[in-house]
Amino acid sequence: MDGSNVRDFGLMFTTRMVIVKLSDGSLWLSSPVSVPFDTLQQITKLGIVRYLVAATPRHVWRLEAWHTLFPEAQLWAASTLFTLKKGHPPLSGTLGDTAFQGWAEDLDQLAFKGNPLIEEVVFFHKQSRTVMLDDLIQIHPTVKGKVFRNSLFKLEGVVAPNGGVGLDIRLSFTNRTLARRSLERLLSWDFDKLIIAHGMCIEKDGKEFVERAFRWLSR
Ligand SMILES: [Fe+2]
Repeated sequence: MDGSNVRDFGLMFTTRMVIVKLSDGSLWLSSPVSVPFDTLQQITKLGIVRYLVAATPRHVWRLEAWHTLFPEAQLWAASTLFTLKKGHPPLSGTLGDTAFQGWAEDLDQLAFKGNPLIEEVVFFHKQSRTVMLDDLIQIHPTVKGKVFRNSLFKLEGVVAPNGGVGLDIRLSFTNRTLARRSLERLLSWDFDKLIIAHGMCIEKDGKEFVERAFRWLSR
């Protein structure tokens, strides 16, 4: 589900959250976005909101408002928490390489290692053969008249249709051996679709897409 655009470092970013209905009927929400009231009602009709997840430290701020709406829901975030504000509702746990038992039947996960600044957790929804990631791969369409933004995203290597792993993220991977190991595990999943938080979704051949986006890692 797409949310409204947010501004970060002066640039507009599109947002997207993912809702997974788990086998036990409850809902698992990743990187929740603000939604209109009737959408919220539709979501509550789908099932009990049990898990609110921020798979990257950059999205942890999104959990707070949703926790107010669903105080019974568990909050889970990536392990590097430098963006967590004082007074943030307590987390039920941090996300690592092993899926929490509450969602392990439906989802597998890995912490993409090798980057001391941002350790993003990537999820795999088994039934739909879908990989879900937040910031690691981005695809930004060029916007008419936004010359600075377009050139910056081009320089970053995240422009549509190919997108990719942004230059700043690529440069902050200091341990490539660890990163390659994470990539290997990601590519061992049997997936075809890819959902990202910033940019278009890849409906088929998602694995080839991820392989291409991470080609710089094998060099
Ligand atoms: Fe993001």
